[in-house]
Parts: sequence; C-alpha cells; structure tokens
Amino acid sequence: MKPIVLITRKVPEIARALLQEAFELIEWMEEEEPAPRSFLEKWIGEVDGLYCLLTDKIDESLIARSNRLKVISTMAVGFNHIDVAAASKRGILVTHTPEVLTETTADLAFALILATARRLVEASVFLREGQWKTWSPMLMTGQEVYGATLGIIGMGRIGEAVARRASGFDMKILYHNRNQKPEAEMRLGMAYAGLEELLQASDFVVVLAPYTQETADMIRKEQLQLMKPSAILINVARGGIVNETDLYDALQKGTIWAAGLDVFDTEPVPLDHPLLTLTNVVTLPHIGSASIQTRMQMALIAAQNLMKGLAGERPNFVVNP
Ligand code: DGY
Repeated sequence: MKPIVLITRKVPEIARALLQEAFELIEWMEEEEPAPRSFLEKWIGEVDGLYCLLTDKIDESLIARSNRLKVISTMAVGFNHIDVAAASKRGILVTHTPEVLTETTADLAFALILATARRLVEASVFLREGQWKTWSPMLMTGQEVYGATLGIIGMGRIGEAVARRASGFDMKILYHNRNQKPEAEMRLGMAYAGLEELLQASDFVVVLAPYTQETADMIRKEQLQLMKPSAILINVARGGIVNETDLYDALQKGTIWAAGLDVFDTEPVPLDHPLLTLTNVVTLPHIGSASIQTRMQMALIAAQNLMKGLAGERPNFVVNP
C-alpha cells in the first residue's frame, strides 16, 4: 500500500506527478485559496505525509490530531508557520526548501531597493495619470543607491546574495546577525555592526532575518527613530518583524524616507491598511521567490523531501534540531 499524503494546495504539475506516482494523494485543489482549517483537521489523522505552504498554520493542536504523520514538507524556506517543537516531540520530520530561492529573493530585495530609492512606482503612476508636463530639474528625484551604505539584518544565504549584488553598486555593507561571520566578512567585504549602529549608519536597511520569538517586532518606533531621515527600509522576510503601526508613523512623519515591503503582518494585507495610502511605500504581494524556475524548483524539492522522508531516508533539508 502506498503512503498517503495530504497536499494543501494545487501545486505545479511537475511536483504533483512525482507525488502521484509515489503516494496516494488527498488534495485541496483550489488554485488561489488556502485549504480551510476544517479540511486539514479532517485529514491530518489519516495521512503519512503533509505537503503544505506558508499559508497553512501547522500548529500544535493540528499536529496533535495526527497519528501516523511522519513528514511535514513545506514549499518554502521559512517555516515559522509550523510548530517544529511540537512535530519533533512526536518524531515528525519537518523539511523546507532553502538554496533554490536565494538568488531570486535577493533579486527582489534589490528590485525594492531600486524601486524605493528611485521612486519607480510613484513615477510610473505620475506619468500614466497625465501629470508629466515637462522635464524639470528636481522632478521625481530620489536617493542615490550607488556608493550608499547598506545594512543587512540577518546574514544567511539570502543576506550574502544581497551583499554580492551590493558590491556591484559599490555600496558599503554592514550586517547584523545572531553570530558574527568573519569568513563571509572577508569574502564579501562587509563589516559586522550592532543593531543600533547599523540603523544609524545605513542608507538602506534590508530585513532578512527569520521570524522567531527574538525577531518578532524587532523594528519598532525606537529602532526607526535611529534611522536617517533619508533612509529606506526594505522587508522581504516576514511582516511580523517590523511593527507596521510604528512604520506607518515613521513614514508619514518623515522619520525615514521610504519603505519597500514584500511581506505583511496579515497576508493578504487588507486594502484599507494605512501603509497602502502612502506614496513612499512600494508594496508587493509576497513574491520574493516568485520566478517560474524557482517556484518549480521549490515545488520539486518539497516533493523530494517528502519522498525521501517517507522512504525512511533522511531528506536533504530537515529543520528539526
Ligand atoms: C519562503 O519560502 O519562506 C518565502 O517567504 C516565499 O518563498
């Protein structure tokens, strides 16, 4: 008998075909809608594997309903939506999909740096609304990216990939991380800084830390007040790391100059969210890793993790400690 796997969303066919060959599948087939909690609760006790997305909350009470679950495989690098401790207690492997999305996400972080600094979205709307009457000396002027100081909070794979891109723009690179990385400092020409120092010195602050108890609400009023009035905050990690109310105040009052946000506390961000009223914010719908190639790769790796795990082998990307 084939192991049974629950898939919480319609996934790319390349991954689904693999899964279908190896397992009996129970699928939530809505393209754009996460599976309701009731669907997960109904099936979690019946399956050996779970293929989920970052929109599924795999918490302790759901895990407690499982009785034969061996592997939880998320099609994401971030796994803050899964209670890994609760899974570990029951001997359930939790796997994710790092590496393949590193460069793609770094590209998007850089796209947000350029879009916010040079006011790309605002300028495009300005033109399309017919407001462009003539070339003028200070029209849509923004901030210099070339040669500016970039502060990266969270120096993992994506942090390094952003730093590599920044070298091409001759930026001075500072980073803040749980632990210092002397080898990466040498290789990438960057310097470690305390959080305060980084916030004070940087023209661009890019948040790339994982979302944990320590990083929740890490950037709030006190931290934003340390930043330069010309500084720009970019968040491509998780919304909960930045306090959105404090960020709105800081952007509105000119405490900082602009923000580029790919992630929000609540996703999809409600359309009446105050941040969406500001012209100095570029907002994106959590598309950091959204290139066709990368999403295909992520889908495949999540399937392979599940296949190895359910075959009794150790998958490549296990997150349990
Ligand atoms: C992840 O994988 O955690 C990103 O947020 C989406 O690709």
